[in-house]
Order: sequence, then C-alpha cells, then structure tokens
Amino acid sequence: MTDLTRRKALVTGAVSGTIAALRLTTARAANTPQPALPIPSEVRTNAQREISFSARVGTANFLPGRNTRTYGYDAPFLGPALRLRRGEKVTIDFTNHLSEPTTVHWHGLIIPGYLDGGPHQAVAPGAQWRPTLPIDQPAATLWFHPHFYPTTTSQVIKGLAGLIIIDDEETDRLGLPSRWGINDIPLIIQDRRFQRDGQFFDRMNLTTITNGYVGDVALVNGARHPVARTARGWLRLRLLDGSNARSYLLKASDDRSLFVIGSDGGLLESPVEMKQITMHAGERFEIMVDCRTGAPFDLVAMPTGEPIMRLPPFDAPLPLVTIHPDGAETSGTLPAALAKLPPLPATLPPISQELVMNMFRDKEGMAPLMQAGLGMGTASGMAMGNASPMPASHAGGMSMTAGAGMSMGGKISPAVVARVVKLIEDQPALPMAQQLSAMGINGKSFSETAAGFTAQRGQDLRWRISEGDDAMPHPVHVHGCQFRIVSESGQKPEAYRAGWKDITPISNGGYSEILLNFPHSADVKAPYMAHCHILEHEDSGMMTGFTVG
Ligand code: C2O
Ligand code: CU
Ligand code: CU
Repeated sequence: MTDLTRRKALVTGAVSGTIAALRLTTARAANTPQPALPIPSEVRTNAQREISFSARVGTANFLPGRNTRTYGYDAPFLGPALRLRRGEKVTIDFTNHLSEPTTVHWHGLIIPGYLDGGPHQAVAPGAQWRPTLPIDQPAATLWFHPHFYPTTTSQVIKGLAGLIIIDDEETDRLGLPSRWGINDIPLIIQDRRFQRDGQFFDRMNLTTITNGYVGDVALVNGARHPVARTARGWLRLRLLDGSNARSYLLKASDDRSLFVIGSDGGLLESPVEMKQITMHAGERFEIMVDCRTGAPFDLVAMPTGEPIMRLPPFDAPLPLVTIHPDGAETSGTLPAALAKLPPLPATLPPISQELVMNMFRDKEGMAPLMQAGLGMGTASGMAMGNASPMPASHAGGMSMTAGAGMSMGGKISPAVVARVVKLIEDQPALPMAQQLSAMGINGKSFSETAAGFTAQRGQDLRWRISEGDDAMPHPVHVHGCQFRIVSESGQKPEAYRAGWKDITPISNGGYSEILLNFPHSADVKAPYMAHCHILEHEDSGMMTGFTVG
C-alpha cells in the first residue's frame, strides 16, 4: 500500500456488507476489506514562497505478496497535490533522485515556454531545477508529470504524476465543498498491467505503441478498488484520467447524476447534469454528487473504446472506487451559477494552424490483432462509418453486435483474449529508431531541434486538429494555454466539454476546431508542445514543438 494518505486511520471496520448491497459487485472476495482511498497530501508554499519535492524510486504493494518497483514524487507512487493561488509566484525546488533524466511539466499551467518543463528542460540525475512559476489563471485541477523524450511513457507507468490545485477568490465565494479528502476528493484513475514477478509491464512494441498501454488492473490514487469514507452531503470529486492511453466511460453504480462543474482549465458556467461522462487520457473533470442520504455507491467504468480496450476486466462494468458517505454531515449545495467564461467571438478567426495526427504503421500494428481474432473491420477498430462489415467468420470472438460503439458490451472469447494478451506482452520491443519514426504530426515525427511552426502571441487563434487515415482516438493536448473547443466535426461540443480545455479528443476520422490564445512566449530553445496524450503515441513521434512570439 502506498503511504500517500494521512487519512487511512479514518477507515474503521470492514465494508463488505455495503459492497454486497450494490448492484455492481466486485470480483474481490467478500471478506477481503477494501483498501482505503489514498489521498495525496496537500502541499502549500512555505514562508519563502517555495515548494520543494523530488522524484525518487520506491516500492509499493499492488499485488498480494509481491513488491513492485516504482517511481514517485516524495511518495512511493504518484505524488502530492500542489495547492497554489491565483496571483502568487511560487518557486519550485525540484531534485531528480532518479538514475535517469526527467522533466517536470505543469500540465495546464499557462506559463512561458522556459518554465513549462517540456522535453527541453531536462533535469539530469542528481540535479535540481528551480523555476519560479507565476500563477495567473482561474481555479482549476491541473497536474504535473514527466515529459522527457522518449521516456515519458515508462516514467509515468512507474508512478510519476501529481496534482496541481489552483484556488482563486471567485471560486472561494461559491462555497463549493472544499475539505480535502473529506468532501473534496481527488480521484486519479489509471490502468496497469503487471509481469509475473510483480513489476509493471512496460514495453514499446508494435501493439502497445499502436494502441497505447492496455492495463488489466484499474488503480485509483494508486489503490485497487479502494473505498473513500467521506462526509455526508454534496461531494466534489476531482477526476483525472492519469492513464497512459485508456479512455473511461464513467457512471455511478446506482445511476445517480454526476453534475459536472469543471473541465481541464476551470469551472463551467453552470453545472451540467450527466448520467455518464467520457474521459480521455490527461483530461480532468470536476463533478458534484449528491450524497445527502449517506447511501454508498461505486464509480464504475463501463466497457468502451476499441476492442483491445475491452479485454477483461474492462469487458464489464468495473467498479473503480467505492464512495461511502457516512461521515459527519457537511452543508453546501450545488450552485446554480459557477464561473463567468468569456463569450466566444461571433466571428471566429480564420484557421491559422492545422495539425494532422499521423500513425505511419497502424495497419501493420493492427494486423496481428485482426489475425488473433480481434477483428472490428478497420485499422484501429473505430471507423465503422465507411468500413464494410466483416463476415462473421472473420469476427473472431467478438460479437458483431458489439460494434465499436460506447458501452455496448460484447465479450471477447477467452481464446482471443489469450492471443491478444500474448501479443501485448510478448511482441519484442521495437528498435528505438523505428519507435521514434512510427508516428508524427503533419507528416513529421517529433524533432527536438526543429520547432514545427510558430504561433502569434496574444491573438485569438483557431486551429483545426484532425487525424490521418487511422480512426483511433487521439486526445490532443496543447501547452501554453487553455482553449475552448468550438467544433467537433462540425458539431458544438457537449456542454461539459464547452469550458476551458487543454485536451481535445478526436476519433473516427473526425476533427476538432479550437479557439486559443497564448499570453506568453516560447522560443526555439524551450518551445511549447502539441501532442497526443496517449503517451505511447507521444513517445513514438506524435508530438511537435512550436514557438510563440
Ligand atoms: Cu500532460 Cu505535454 O503533457
Ligand atoms: Cu501539458
Ligand atoms: Cu494518439
């Protein structure tokens, strides 16, 4: 168990009785107590306006009786929640205690390129980095993680990721639940796969770079199906999809409403009531749930995505975390109005930049999966639109009615599962040169020395982001700004994705248009990055640097 939490002591007694009462139950033996949800510790600036932390190796117990070697920020796995206020300047004192170079990227923070912690700001083993970050953006749930090229994937797998919580006065006045770990609960959702020796599976072969990491264990704040004993009343859940690649379709086990109050870069204008929400790698959503009755529920991941992402246990509704709101009653209601967002301009600026995500080897990457029987018709399994349906005999273990649609279930036969798992685990790693050239943006794989393009500083800009001839989901992230999605393949985004965003998901051959504005600059020595947040894609070249001036 990680020791991220200071609140483990809150958990008293077994909760198996309650779990059994839920409609969705777990595979866990009924008499095994669930671990307590670890709560990342809040870290604020000291009197010198500094925060110091380091990256270090550790061990954690994810599997009974086996130790896993991990990385963490001042913790065996994951790290603290840096609590910052709009208007302050914070100096970070970061030390790299790993034996490999790393960087610390402040995902979602609007700061100049040289402070951004991208691939160009390497921190050598044993070295320190002391950036002073000016915090000037609305209250939001952001995060930080390594961005060294091309080892971001493996450093995040081992555990490097932490939260950044920005507070501001307007949000203070709303009276949202704000007691950390009591009615304001961070939930970092990730998936992992383990080798027989208990170590994290971590290999960049054609299958894993094409599809991204395919875990078979879900972790929330580093724990397997933990339980959060929380206050009774309205709860605020700060969700981060901290997975390398996996998207989640999340719902409450008892179908209670999820009121989305915030997206990547801050609060929405008003709460959006949803029964289920989709999250992609790197995205954050803040939701409120009505827990006034004290009845427990599970946050559940529904089967979704491409067939390979529906391997067990993600082939059925999977409980991720139990929320047990049986603590002291807290007051507070859901505000009707949240934040003021600037209205979108009546006339959008002309498109100044196109970004096309390229997978140069996706057909080759998908072929063995199709041969294994994981057939869904197209290269990446999602483009059902113009793909001719496969004859049933080629459909392998997949029921054709499963389609590639969201949450349609569809079990994959055990024989197909076994063949696909073998491909994931046993295919040899690609030679590095092949990995780095497997993907790209606008036809080119990532280059550390050449920025792909330049953007105007302080201007409203419209970018169009699309994919090449694959149809895979790509959650595309842009550094140096928070943007608004103005079009998803010609449609307005759903209300819960219409606020501040730093990731725009595209899939099925679709595109998205975003409205952005860079207040700071980034030069060629420390450019901003635009990339797919599937880390295996990012580390295979689906990233470009760009300058702002
Ligand atoms: Cu969350 Cu460029 O990264
Ligand atoms: Cu980022
Ligand atoms: Cu991608």
